[in-house]
Amino acid sequence: MKNIYGNNITVTLFGESHGAAIGAVIDGIAPGIEVDYDLIEKSLLQRQGEADISTPRREGDKVEFLSGIKNGFTEGTPIALIIKNENKNSNAYSPYENTPRPSHADYAAEEKYHGFQDKSGGGHFSGRITAPLVATGAIIRSALEKKGILIGTHIKSLHGIADRGFFDYSKDIAILAEKSFPALSREAETLMKNEILSAKSNSDSVGGELETVIFGVPAGVGEPWFDTVEGVLAHACLSIPGVKGIEFGEGFDLCGMLGSEANDPLRIKDGKVTLEKNSNGGINGGITNGMPILFTLAVKPTPSIAKAQRTVDLRTMENCEIEIKGRHDPAIIHRARAVVDAVSAIAIADLLVTRFGTDWLRS
Ligand SMILES: Cc1cc2nc3c(=O)[nH]c(=O)nc-3n(C[C@H](O)[C@H](O)[C@H](O)COP(=O)(O)O)c2cc1C
Repeated sequence: MKNIYGNNITVTLFGESHGAAIGAVIDGIAPGIEVDYDLIEKSLLQRQGEADISTPRREGDKVEFLSGIKNGFTEGTPIALIIKNENKNSNAYSPYENTPRPSHADYAAEEKYHGFQDKSGGGHFSGRITAPLVATGAIIRSALEKKGILIGTHIKSLHGIADRGFFDYSKDIAILAEKSFPALSREAETLMKNEILSAKSNSDSVGGELETVIFGVPAGVGEPWFDTVEGVLAHACLSIPGVKGIEFGEGFDLCGMLGSEANDPLRIKDGKVTLEKNSNGGINGGITNGMPILFTLAVKPTPSIAKAQRTVDLRTMENCEIEIKGRHDPAIIHRARAVVDAVSAIAIADLLVTRFGTDWLRS
């Protein structure tokens, strides 16, 4: 039983969706990092998503620091943060206590925790637990930004509707930072939102792909075995509820290419080594090659849908049907981007301090 991520920067998550509070304990952050409270608030708002296409559950998401931060700067000691749960409505979930929601964590958790798990609102398996993760990521992201490392995520596609790709990384990251719905093209944004609303009106849900860039990471970061940059990022991203796949650079498309098409030729430009293209997503041998790190995640449709679904009754051990009435997102992809930005920051910072030392993160 373990809920800790990281080697030299570690994050422990705790709490349940309808418990008193949710939170994180963060260790290994250098002393003297200025906390960007605005970025924390902005990131948490992005995680909440726009009202009509997101869960009706609205929370204040006010972060309280219990330790590790003094006068707006990290102390270097463990940071404990909590976010109180204010808008609880556990009764909405009680009818499903013994009838697991298909493709949510309910049945798998029942087997692991023998019924002792808090089932209200998905308990510890709720998307709500990503809020402290987003707050953690925002503390680290502002420190990375001072080092010239920028992170941005957009919806590459939603139920078959495609966004435009990245044109100019730093400009596109700046555009995304100001958007509550992370599509780069306005037309794609309108079509995607309509698609979410249409799924909602049909008591259904939709998923899609999120594309992330981590820009400005120097070459030579990452370990050749096990703690490869791909491995560490995948560990973090696949921990996000609802994320089911990851590919780096051109990923699965590389399989259909010839070596001469898949390879990224090296060139000297202004006296420095650079690559002509970036099909490998900025990583070779598990180590960064100085190109932007690029990866795409598969985000599944929200499992809790209001349509009738087949499940089982664990008390009677009989087949039955459920119609889920609680407060749910018709899509989680637009909200998950804030979580992806956060875990990307945590993962890459962990690799950077492994390479350059804890104090490197401090500006
Ligand atoms: C920000 C966020 C919000 C989520 N909201 C919901 C929700 O309202 N209803 C739901 O069924 N699942 C929601 N999920 C997804 C479930 O938590 C997830 O599908 C479930 O825990 C099972 O895990 P798995 O899909 O990774 O297998 C959300 C996920 C995230 C990241």
